[in-house]
Amino acid sequence: MKIGILGAGQMGSAMIRGWLNADLVTPQQLFVKGGHSGSAEKLQQALHFQLVTELTELKTVDVLVIATLPKLVVPLLQELKKVPAFSAPIASVAAGVSLHAMQTIMGERYPLASALPNTPVAINEGVTAIAFPETISLEAKKTLQQTFEALGKVIIAPEEQIAAINTVAGCGPAFVDLMMEALSDAAVKHGIPRAQSYEIISQMLIGSGRLQQVTNQHPAELKEAVTTPGGLTIKGVTALEEYGFRNALIKAIDAIL
Ligand SMILES: NC(=O)c1ccc[n+]([C@@H]2O[C@H](COP(=O)([O-])OP(=O)(O)OC[C@H]3O[C@@H](n4cnc5c(N)ncnc54)[C@H](OP(=O)(O)O)[C@@H]3O)[C@@H](O)[C@H]2O)c1
Repeated sequence: MKIGILGAGQMGSAMIRGWLNADLVTPQQLFVKGGHSGSAEKLQQALHFQLVTELTELKTVDVLVIATLPKLVVPLLQELKKVPAFSAPIASVAAGVSLHAMQTIMGERYPLASALPNTPVAINEGVTAIAFPETISLEAKKTLQQTFEALGKVIIAPEEQIAAINTVAGCGPAFVDLMMEALSDAAVKHGIPRAQSYEIISQMLIGSGRLQQVTNQHPAELKEAVTTPGGLTIKGVTALEEYGFRNALIKAIDAIL
């Protein structure tokens, strides 16, 4: 398989690292085109992928991912359309660029996807929401799906839902980071060294997420398992409710969408 990618910024570089970690492609099978700041060149020195400067050099890729800022997607598709014999499935990871906008340039039958990954794709623990047009062939769909499955979990959803999925999956890490910082402050306040507090907290989060994934239990059941009647945890839960913890998270998502 050969992957082409336009853009090696925050999201582009995260996907590049994920594909290489997963051995989905070798550096020789990964073709990267950056912009003008030299970020792709810098990353190339560390990861040794094929650096390309012209879109025509992407002619042989099996799949192309566009990871530039949203405003560049349409102009880049217009340029790609002019590349003779270019026919690889294209996924845009740009937020807010619709399948319709892409189809307007590439044509209704061109194999396209709108995919929204989150940054944990860099360590193959990402969540990518993907919307496909109805016209896409099974083969193209499979290729695009496999490209993102190498980076973590893939959720195929109707286009109108992918922004909400990506808000939870893509902005959620920042909320969790705030929570980690606050829990660490609390731990330090009670005498735990800072570095150790982060070891404890990040493993607690990994364990809690994995326990839910593995058991498929409702979070309320998992919470009940650690809240002994009259015990200490329920006192903490009550304090969180008093300070509007759940409502704060719902409002955070509302503020974005
Ligand atoms: N960051 C996230 O968590 C996240 C999540 C989901 C979706 N996305 C989407 O991912 C896209 C990229 O976001 P980002 O955070 O990675 O932005 P970013 O760090 O600014 O990266 C954008 C990259 O595009 C490159 N670029 C500019 N012009 C180009 C061209 N003509 N050909 C090829 N590459 C070009 C830039 O290269 P130079 O710096 O060299 O100009 C830059 O490295 C956005 O559309 C965003 O909506 C991001």
